[in-house]
This record gives sequence, structure tokens and C-alpha cells, in this order.
Amino acid sequence: MKSKFFVLFLFPILLSSCGAPKSETEKRIDEILSQMTLEEKIGQMSQLSYDVSGDVGGAIAEGRVGSLLNVVDPVKVNELQKIAVEQSRLGIPLVIGRDVIHGLKTIFPIPIGQAATFNPEIVEQGAAVAARESRSVGIHWTFAPMLDISRDQRWGRLAEGMGEDPYLGGVMGAAMVRGFQGNDLASANSIAACVKHFVAYGAAEGGRDYGSTSVPPHLMRNVYLVPFKAAIDAGAATLMTSFNDNDGIPGTGNKALVRDMLRDEWGWDGMVVSDWASVTEMVVHGFAADDKEAAARAVNAGVDMEMVSTSYVGYLAELIKEGKVSQEYVDESVRNVLRLKFRLGLFDSPYVDLSVPSPLYAPEHLAAAQTAAEQSAVLLKNDGVLPLEGVRTVALVGPMSDAPHDQLGTWIFDGEKSHTVTVAAAMREMLGEDITVIHENGVEYSRDRSVANIPRAVAAARRADVVVAVVGEEAILSGEAHSLADPSLKGAQEELIRELSKTGKPLVLVVMAGRPLLIGDEVEMANAVLYSFHPGTMGGPAIVRLLTGEVSPSGRLPMSFAREVGQIPVYYNHNRTGRPFRGGEVLIDDIPLEAGQSSLGNTSYYLDAGSAAPLFPFGYGLTYTTFEYSGVGVSAEVMEMDGGVEVSATIKNTGSREGTEVVQLYVNDVAGSIARPVKELKGFQRVTLGAGESRRVSFTLTADDLAFWGIDMEYKAEPGDFRVWIGPDSSEGLESRFTLR
Ligand code: NOJ
Repeated sequence: MKSKFFVLFLFPILLSSCGAPKSETEKRIDEILSQMTLEEKIGQMSQLSYDVSGDVGGAIAEGRVGSLLNVVDPVKVNELQKIAVEQSRLGIPLVIGRDVIHGLKTIFPIPIGQAATFNPEIVEQGAAVAARESRSVGIHWTFAPMLDISRDQRWGRLAEGMGEDPYLGGVMGAAMVRGFQGNDLASANSIAACVKHFVAYGAAEGGRDYGSTSVPPHLMRNVYLVPFKAAIDAGAATLMTSFNDNDGIPGTGNKALVRDMLRDEWGWDGMVVSDWASVTEMVVHGFAADDKEAAARAVNAGVDMEMVSTSYVGYLAELIKEGKVSQEYVDESVRNVLRLKFRLGLFDSPYVDLSVPSPLYAPEHLAAAQTAAEQSAVLLKNDGVLPLEGVRTVALVGPMSDAPHDQLGTWIFDGEKSHTVTVAAAMREMLGEDITVIHENGVEYSRDRSVANIPRAVAAARRADVVVAVVGEEAILSGEAHSLADPSLKGAQEELIRELSKTGKPLVLVVMAGRPLLIGDEVEMANAVLYSFHPGTMGGPAIVRLLTGEVSPSGRLPMSFAREVGQIPVYYNHNRTGRPFRGGEVLIDDIPLEAGQSSLGNTSYYLDAGSAAPLFPFGYGLTYTTFEYSGVGVSAEVMEMDGGVEVSATIKNTGSREGTEVVQLYVNDVAGSIARPVKELKGFQRVTLGAGESRRVSFTLTADDLAFWGIDMEYKAEPGDFRVWIGPDSSEGLESRFTLR
């Protein structure tokens, strides 16, 4: 009792009198550590899930639990916290975690949609809203952002990430960390972020979730680790190890990456948590003979806290006795856990203040979610039908047109469909009395194979001036463990679109999905395509405003869209082959019968599909005006290692309405100590220009921006020639050059 009094009361007083510099926190941790039994230490390294572990009160009182996840009732949180603070011997508070991935109650677009905004401020704001709502119900810690690079449309979890590009992933990941954590983790508006899944989880073979990955060291450093490093540099408080084995080593047992790189090389002092049972799943991997060996491998690798499985509690004491895990490693892990709790202010303020008015669904939160949905939609095609003007009757069809649950997307444990505003609801509300909306789904849900109602949708189309078909995927078709072998529109949706297109009425497709779908045929049939991903609570009003032109689309693709499944992976920043596709290659029907053995044009392509070019490239997106790029230039032809060059171009709005262009900067290192990608994104700016307006847009590049891990595994820029482009997407742009010396 005496020691608890010391921890809870005397230390804070001592601290406040000396200004609480960081080292004081470490001294407080020393003090607590010196009082802890081994069992209590191991308890701090254990996280249980409230929904599956049953009555955890007794274990908390005995100091056998450091953290809980999945308790979201603030009254219950306070009750459990009270047990930790008042009944456990040392009174160490619990840290409460939850997957708050794109909003707690106010749901923002899924992360891949947020990435499409190319606007880190939007991402930061969304995370800040999520943090405020979460902390108000007693959640201290979210398991986001997910920064797994993905180049595979089949992988369902790409919905939760930032797409295929390491630079964009890093910028957005850092923004999300800032949004969740704010300036002070102890504030009532902040929660701890958790960057995940460390690492390469998105490179799963065949796009099958949890699959093995084979990412070699250079690719790991130059691509897969880049967003993690950016988020760690932005101050991410925690990190989660991954399920996948990379080159035979599961993320949760990877000492070289966690202890040696993250801790020793990067000098990071945050806390590492395993994924759900990923410690004991190392037995299933065949990386440990039993749970005991798995616990040893995880702690030795540097995993501070075990999520849900209980091998630490079961075996760590024994492992220490046997000398298989050092006491020092355990103390370090406990220190990392306690440091997180201090940073969150939990020792001083462990409880949820139930008297504070609830911020859930605050009007400003809903407004921010709507802006995010507006900026995340990508206009892929428009023959002029959009924005809708002079329209008297709209036929609104499609399974996602009024799907309040599904438009929220994956990972919304706490979102409520009763708060969703669908496109149907928004049209009724916003289009005014002069416009009639005829609503017929045609296909009832995205997997619905029935064609019985398609004639009703076609009849509605015939009576209308324009058809808006909201198609896509139900929320449950993407996300964890929801990979698809064929990521195309499911059910009778293609049939619906075909029948609608036959009416000859202008056809606008709005696609709400958790991934880039294979939509080549549907794009052909439509007059316009707006890709909204799963847009969240306020998706309906956002889409109506985009369709009517109240706001103009400004999203850009954070992932390339494959034309067909056999092309996957298709991504813009691939390495150069020695025999690149040239165009005009021989195709399957050009080959004469009984042709002799030949390597045709000796280039890299598909006989039956031509080039590997995507349907839509990374960075692509249209708006309701057009832009012209001219006058690209570099400030100097030679850049010194310690200097920089400015790359600039003039962008002119050549249309008749205001619009936002995402101006993108790409670089190619012409010859390196290892082969370099054909292009790499190095900067982007959202630029809003009025009709006829032009602006000079410039980017500064330094050697730091050109650095990579080369043949000797050193991170540095290498002297030589660089090509540089300023353009509207990864496939186009005006080129210039400079030499680094
Ligand atoms: C498993 C998922 O892989 C991870 O992302 C998530 O945070 C945990 N479960 C906790 O729910």
C-alpha cells in the first residue's frame, strides 16, 4: 500500500516541482521496476481481449494484465481501471487498445480512400477526430496506421493502407500519427498510434492474407520500410509486428528487424506489441516447437507485449530461470510499456471523465468526414456528362446506392449505420424539388446474382435524363482475411451496367469499394466513373456535391488499377528490365501456326494482353477542368551533394471552371549501384487554380531525397544523372534532367 501511495501521489508531486523532463519519467520507471516482482513484470507484457477473455478483474487485481483491448464502454473501462489502480499491488494503470482505423463513430473514408486525397492535412484531421472520440470513451491506443505497401488488388487489407507508394505512404502515415497523437499524448484529445504490420505483410504471395512474403533486403529498405520509418520519425508511440513470415522469419520473431534495426539502429523508444496471437502462431508457422519456444523467440526479438495469446504469462519466468531469455530483456520491455503509460498520462489521470459532454458525431466531425469523402473520390472518366447540369430526372440504381452499413467500409467495430447518409438519402435531401429521383437498386447487394430486378432499374433509366449507378463491394468483401482471387464486380452488377448502357441514357458509375476493382469493361460502358472507395458516414452528401459540381473531384489514385488479374502485381515504380516493352509487339493471333521457336521481340509483355500497362496509373485522376503543363526546368544542371535543385513547371487551368490539380514530382536515378525504379514519387502539391489561371509550381530536391540503400547496404545518394518529371500522374509529365556531383 505504501509503495502504491508513493507511485500515485508522491512522485507526481516531486515531478511537478522539477518540471518533469523526460529523464524524470525514466527515474519513475526505475522506481516502479525496482518494486516489481517478476510476475508483475510479465503481467505488464500481457494484453488480453476483453471480449474473449471473460472475467479479467481477478487477473488485473493480481497484476497479471498490462493492457486490454476491445472494451469500449467508458463505465466498464473505469471499473476495470479502478481495479488496476486500487487493487493491484503497485497500482499501475491499464492501457486500453482498440482498432480505430478510420474513425470511431464518425467514420471517415477507408484509409486507401484517404490516401487518394493526396492531402496529409485531411488525413491528420481525420485521425484527430478519431482520437477525440476514442479518448472520450476510454480508448488510449489505436492499432493504426497500417503502413503495409501493397501492389496487389486481391489482398483485402489494402483497404486499410495507403497504397503502393512508399513516399505517399510515409507522408500519409506520418500525418495519421500526428493526428492521433497531437502534441501531447496525455491530452484528452489524443491516443497513441500503432504502426503496423512490421513488416512486408502487404506483399503476401498471391494476395492471400497472412501469406508468406519474400522481400529481399534492398527492396525491404527502399520500399517496405520507408513508411514505417517516416511514421516512427513522426513520433509513433507503438508498433505492431506482423503475421507473415518473410523469407522464413515471422515478423514477431524477427530479431534483425525489431531489436537490431528498430531499436539499435533507429534508436526508437516506443513499445512493440505482437499481432493477435502472432506469438503462439509461430508454432503453426513451424518457427517454434511449442508456445514456450515461441515466447522466447518473441521476447528475444524485442516484442514487448503479447496480444491475446498467453505464452509470456505461461513461460517467461521459466525461460528466465533457464537462461533462455535475459532478465534485462524483460526489464527493457516493461520499461517500454510503462513509458507508454506515462506518455499517455495514465498514472496521473487513469479514468475517463464521464462528466465531459460527448464529442461523438459532433457537427465539426461530420463536416470533416464529408470533406475527406469529397477529396478522396477519384474521377476516372468523364465524357462531359459530369457535373450534372440541367437534369430533371435522375435514375438512381445499384446495390451501393442506399447501403448504410456497406458504405462505411471495413474495420468499423463502433460505427453505426443509423448515422450514415447514403447517396439515396442525400439526393432526396439535396437535389431540391425540381429534380425527380427514381430509385431502383436493380441488384440488391453486391454479391446478388439475381437479375430479377434489373428490368425495374432499366425502366427507371428509360424515364430519366441520366442514370447514376452506385456499384462496388459490400464492406465485408475487403479487409482482414478477405482476399479475392478475382477482384472484379461481383453478382449481377456487370449485367446491370450492361443493360443500363443499352438504354442509351448517359450512365454515371459511382464505385464504392475497398480496393481498386477490375472494371475495364464497366468503364467502357459508362459515360463517367467516379471512384469513391468506401466513403464513410458522410459519403452520400459528398458524392452528391461531386456529381452536381458543387465541389470538383480532386482525388488521385494511390494504387495502379490492373486491367486483368493476371497482370497483378502492377505498380508504377518497378525496376527497369533489360528488355522493356517497346509497343507494337506480336500478339497471340499474330503468330503463324507451327511457328518455329523464337523469342519474338525479346521484350517483356503478355502475348494475350499486350503491355503490362495498368488500366489507370498511380497518381491518376480527372476533374471538371483541364490543366496544361509547360516550361519544366531545373534551377541548376549540376547539384552538389550538399546543395539542392529546384524543379519547377507552369500549370495552367485551361478550362472554364476552378479546379484542383495534384501536381506530382517524379525522379529516376539513371544508373545506380543497384537497378533503380523507372520512376519514384518525390513530392506532390494540391494546387487550386481559377479558370484561365496559371501558376509556377516548384519543388526542392536535395541529396536526401535521392538517397537509397545501395549495393553496400549504405543509405546515400549516388553521384550521376537524374531524370525528373513534373506531371499529372505517374505515366505522364514534362521531363528535365540534372547531375548530382
Ligand atoms: C489482427 C489484425 O491483423 C491487427 O491489424 C489488429 O490490430 C489486431 N487483430 C487487433 O484487433
